[in-house]
Amino acid sequence: MISRYTYGRCMETGAVLEKPEIEAGVLPFFAVDENEKTFTYRMAEHDRVYGLGENLRGMNKRGWIYESKCTDDPNHTEDKRSLYAAHNFFVVDGTELFGVFIDYPGILSIDIGYTKMDTLKVQVSDWNLEFYLITGADVKDVVKQFRKMIGRSYIPPLWAFGYGQSRWGYKSEEDIREVVKKYRECQIPLDSVYLDIDYMERFKDFTLNPETFPNFKEFVEEMKQERIHLVPIIDAGVKQEDGYPIYEEGIEKGYFCKKEDGTPFVAAVWPGKALFPDMLNTEARNWFGDQYKFLLDQGIEGFWNDMNEPSIFYTEDRLKSVMEKLDEYKGKNLDIHSFFEFQGLVSGLSNNEEDYKEFYHNMDGVRVRHDRVHNLFGYNMTKAAGEAFERLVPEKRILMFSRSSYIGMHRYGGIWQGDNKSWWSHLLLNIRMMPSLNMCGFLYTGADLGGFGADTTEELLMRWLEFGIFTPLMRNHSADGTREQEVYRFEKTEGFRHVIGMRYRMIPYLYSEYMKAALRNEMMFRPLAFDYPEDPYAVQVEDQLLLGGELMLAPVYEQNARGRYVYLPEEMKMIRFKQDGTMETQICRKGHQYIDVALTDVVFFLRPDKLIPLAGKAQCTQDIDFDDVRLLSYVKGNMASYEYYHDDGYGKDYENPDHISLLFATAEDDQEILR
Ligand code: GLC
Repeated sequence: MISRYTYGRCMETGAVLEKPEIEAGVLPFFAVDENEKTFTYRMAEHDRVYGLGENLRGMNKRGWIYESKCTDDPNHTEDKRSLYAAHNFFVVDGTELFGVFIDYPGILSIDIGYTKMDTLKVQVSDWNLEFYLITGADVKDVVKQFRKMIGRSYIPPLWAFGYGQSRWGYKSEEDIREVVKKYRECQIPLDSVYLDIDYMERFKDFTLNPETFPNFKEFVEEMKQERIHLVPIIDAGVKQEDGYPIYEEGIEKGYFCKKEDGTPFVAAVWPGKALFPDMLNTEARNWFGDQYKFLLDQGIEGFWNDMNEPSIFYTEDRLKSVMEKLDEYKGKNLDIHSFFEFQGLVSGLSNNEEDYKEFYHNMDGVRVRHDRVHNLFGYNMTKAAGEAFERLVPEKRILMFSRSSYIGMHRYGGIWQGDNKSWWSHLLLNIRMMPSLNMCGFLYTGADLGGFGADTTEELLMRWLEFGIFTPLMRNHSADGTREQEVYRFEKTEGFRHVIGMRYRMIPYLYSEYMKAALRNEMMFRPLAFDYPEDPYAVQVEDQLLLGGELMLAPVYEQNARGRYVYLPEEMKMIRFKQDGTMETQICRKGHQYIDVALTDVVFFLRPDKLIPLAGKAQCTQDIDFDDVRLLSYVKGNMASYEYYHDDGYGKDYENPDHISLLFATAEDDQEILR
């Protein structure tokens, strides 16, 4: 059951589609303090708290303080309180069981046992919000009700389940051709190559660099012939430049965010001085969305939206005042205080909190200061695109994922997990974030495999891919200046071919699970605690996942490890795909066990009386032979069955019952690979 409580005058964020009637009574479980602007819940000793979508730390969020404040901060270290998103949904599971969604577009903190170990406290910046309280039979039921309320998750085209190669640093058609050539030569499957900021003319949205991409449309077609999709980046900031039509039109029509005095707010991002389209204004949003047509017309079928927290390198005004202040330090003997002040002046230029109070939105006639609605910006940039795709190419599924997001955006696109680093701990963070993101409706997601910042290693990349083959978005992406990390740069070509190849064999299953999760408001990835709540060990597991109804994953995420301890909450069949093309299976009993996982092994666990469909090998999604799926089963009783969702991967008649068929395997059939 969902109850809705309203405090103050809340703003319509569009997160919730099905709103229950407002409750008049007292909010249960929480002490409400209007002066402090807090909601406080006393946790029992063993309560666990799940959710908060894109965030730091464990699956069980207890023991830290989190802030909903979309931030461009690439250093995802443990001391941080927020990443690029604001996902205010969590579930308390323990003595009581309930979910909470706080629909509030400003900045809020959720202290889950940080200040006091037994106290959960939500604090908002102003008292205008909607508080949804969800009770249900178990955590999965609470999540399902919540997901139904916020509407169906975004569905990408089938090709977006293929493997993608990206790097900030590909500068020209030639660079891209080279990447594709190398992958094809090595016979490592590939479906897409991403175009980072260098494809544009001086970082101007919806332009092309005429020197490095002189025949873009032909190039897009040439890549299509290679069965490669190109996926360009779109940034939130529009370059301030006379003669640039988007800038000029935006100024003329008043579509950019403005300062208090009504003049456009100028902040710098990649192109230098830039303006932010007012994504919260319907007309401006439609206008920005229409700009995607330029690239759709060139044959592009997928995009990634970036820098949309929005990220600010500096504002025109702050830069000016910092420059003036810096002058005062000239010739001074900088001591402990003045030196750090001096240093802070420059480092404080970026994403400065005060700057987010300097500009305003015109929310269809109502002027709102940005910081009050900060967390809606990236969401609405992606909504601009999503709505435009519906207008411009209604018959097509377009790939779209964003960096910043708020709940509600999950209907328009997926997200990637931002600028992580080539650190083992970030592989673990990637694993842990999958279920919390699914709880909030974000199903199409994945991290920059191999790590974005810092130098990767062959081993880290291999292990990360071994997990990445299961995440809907599977993209290898790295930052300019870091070690090149296309898989063909390393020695274990066969190993990479095998691991990435396994992704393609799994696509019938992964796609089917994705579609069922989207259409039924379910989670594709779950902590063990959600399916085995009575098991005292399972509820503590933080480094294994359940995938769909059939699999358990226990990824290796440590350097030099050639295996790991796994907890099995029940007997399962371990499946091991080896680089030499063979498969081994072993029935593993319930309990703790050490499992060997050689560097290029793909290992997962099949639950009893379950089966999954597997395809043969393919070099891209187009080549997958869906008429020739084989069944991999573990029949413990008499029979295993599977509800298999399969459609053409492009059309939009998602709900057509013909897309579902039932697959069976009996004990007799229970060989390694059938048919
Ligand atoms: C941001 C993005 C990253 C991209 C870079 C250059 O840091 O998060 O993915 O490569 O900008 O566009």
